[in-house]
Amino acid sequence: MRILVLGGDGYLGWPTAMHFSRRGDDVFVVDNFTRRTGHIERGTDSLTPISPLMDRVAAWRQIAGRDITAEVVDITDFTRLRSLVKDFAPDTIVHYGEIPSAPYSMIDRDHAWETQRNNVEGTLNLLFAMHEVAPDAHLVKLGTMGEYGTPNIDIEEGYLDIDHNGRTDRLPFPKLPGSFYHLSKVHDSHNIHFACRVWGLRATDLNQGVVYGLHTDETELDDRLLTRFDYDEVFGTALNRFCVQSVIGHPITVYGSGSQQRGFLNIRDTLQCVELASRAPAAAGEMRVFNQFTEAFSVMELASEVCSAANSLGYNARIEHCVNPRVELEDHYYNPTHTGLLQLGLKPRLLSEELIETMLHTVERFKDRVSLRAIAPATQWR
Ligand SMILES: NC(=O)c1ccc[n+]([C@@H]2O[C@H](COP(=O)([O-])OP(=O)(O)OC[C@H]3O[C@@H](n4cnc5c(N)ncnc54)[C@H](O)[C@@H]3O)[C@@H](O)[C@H]2O)c1
Repeated sequence: MRILVLGGDGYLGWPTAMHFSRRGDDVFVVDNFTRRTGHIERGTDSLTPISPLMDRVAAWRQIAGRDITAEVVDITDFTRLRSLVKDFAPDTIVHYGEIPSAPYSMIDRDHAWETQRNNVEGTLNLLFAMHEVAPDAHLVKLGTMGEYGTPNIDIEEGYLDIDHNGRTDRLPFPKLPGSFYHLSKVHDSHNIHFACRVWGLRATDLNQGVVYGLHTDETELDDRLLTRFDYDEVFGTALNRFCVQSVIGHPITVYGSGSQQRGFLNIRDTLQCVELASRAPAAAGEMRVFNQFTEAFSVMELASEVCSAANSLGYNARIEHCVNPRVELEDHYYNPTHTGLLQLGLKPRLLSEELIETMLHTVERFKDRVSLRAIAPATQWR
């Protein structure tokens, strides 16, 4: 398979590129380093030292004996994106290339605008490029479970059968996103749905939960192949931050009561899901939607898991609640469906104490790189 990975320098993109390359697929990676420059702007960095993209590619060639083609392209540059798609002629386009942070989009107007401009414009460009020069390619687009928010009903996979005034239809599931970032994903989903209906494109929208873990079969081969591990308040995720806090002796800070629930999955399962979706493409004209997570936890449950794993390793971890900087429901109903990927063959790897211990060991290795200043929540939703 010829596979184009947009955002292939990112947390998920780089492991995805190696995963497909190792399986013999022809991989082309595109990135414009927005994530790296976002960290420079905020004065933060990945805990794991990550190599420059071209060094990663060279290390991969040396270690795996396989080539990954990489080019620095901003996908909001339509002319370059179109010619790249035309020349490479991908079977599959895995699109990770967006600004993925809710707090970043909530800093102020400029960051909200930049997140929506970058994400909506990039995806729109891609749809036009596919329509013009690669109409049979399959788009595998990373959306988020955050598009749905936390409605007081079961969340279906993308669509809802509705009875209204005696008539029925299957319509896109209503969305209640919780940040300007999540809204950018909702706008993308609408644009993709429209392009499938009108131009007959084929797409899979993967509404992904929060991903944890930093090792895959490929990143483990050599430190030069490591992926990023962000723990700061803007780009980091709760589980990463809790691990870092436990190792450096900082209280584990839970926003509000911690009863907010979210879907989660292991990074290895992200690769499995993206591969399963890629090898069984959507039909022409179809926007298929999968809810891509394997289990749901409350923030408090996550904090307790990390606290107990850390204490069993001899750290002195404890949990503290802080004022929630976000505007979100803390006590809510949460029952999202996630059967589509299981039916395609997903074998979930659930969160375990062993995995949290592995993360704690990695944090211990790089703890001298922790910036305390980066941890406290500074971005307010109000
Ligand atoms: N990591 C998660 O927990 C998670 C959860 C749900 C959804 N997602 C989605 O998955 C995708 C990947 O997430 P990630 O955690 O790997 O994020 P990431 O920031 O590490 O990766 C995204 C990559 O895209 C690149 N990029 C952004 N805008 C670009 C542009 N205009 N042109 C070219 N490259 C561009 C960035 O430089 C970065 O390397 C994102 O779309 C994100 O919204 C991630």
